[in-house]
Amino acid sequence: MEIIVATKNKGKLREFSRILAPMDIQVVGMEDLDIHLDIEENGETFYDNAKIKAEAIHALTGKAVVADDSGLCVDALGGRPGVYSARYGGEDLPYPQKIAMLLEELKDCPPEKRTAQFACVIYFVDEKGRGYGFEGICPGTIGYQCKGERGFGYDPIFYVGEESFSSLTDEQKDACSHRGKALRAFAQALPEILNRP
Ligand code: IMP
Repeated sequence: MEIIVATKNKGKLREFSRILAPMDIQVVGMEDLDIHLDIEENGETFYDNAKIKAEAIHALTGKAVVADDSGLCVDALGGRPGVYSARYGGEDLPYPQKIAMLLEELKDCPPEKRTAQFACVIYFVDEKGRGYGFEGICPGTIGYQCKGERGFGYDPIFYVGEESFSSLTDEQKDACSHRGKALRAFAQALPEILNRP
């Protein structure tokens, strides 16, 4: 089965592709389909934003669409940057600078208070326009420095135990990540969803 992923983020698209491939789901991104729609993510929750993105692309294509909205919620910052993770410090600020800003905000924060979580909501709209949401959470901590070369976004400073997301293999990240958990819940529910009259 082919599903459109409502994202332009190549890092996310790679993760969708490798997590859903074993369930025989092929994904195509917006850029693969030459869709250059700018969707305003003006929701206040991950759920709202994922729904906005999936519904916008479904309205345009009439096809089955899946979207994710995700972000990093830092406890010492009252859950920031949260839904604003991609816009933290400005949308165009490169990630090394976003990370430096976050580390600066946390410079006086002791190890036991550096808890955080990555959160993800996957929202699926079927061909008939019916929607379904799935959530995944990955608890961790914000380190004092970057570690590892892999991944994207805030991966280099998000630690699960001694390792950052950037120092895990793809399989290790997918097994514990917020997106891995939410996508597996979605993939598990999909056969039943597709059988609904
Ligand atoms: P949005 O869902 O497109 O609004 O963007 C979510 C933002 O959260 C991404 O651009 C990243 O900054 C961050 N993010 C979400 N998931 C991950 C992840 O798995 N690793 C690193 N950063 C992530």
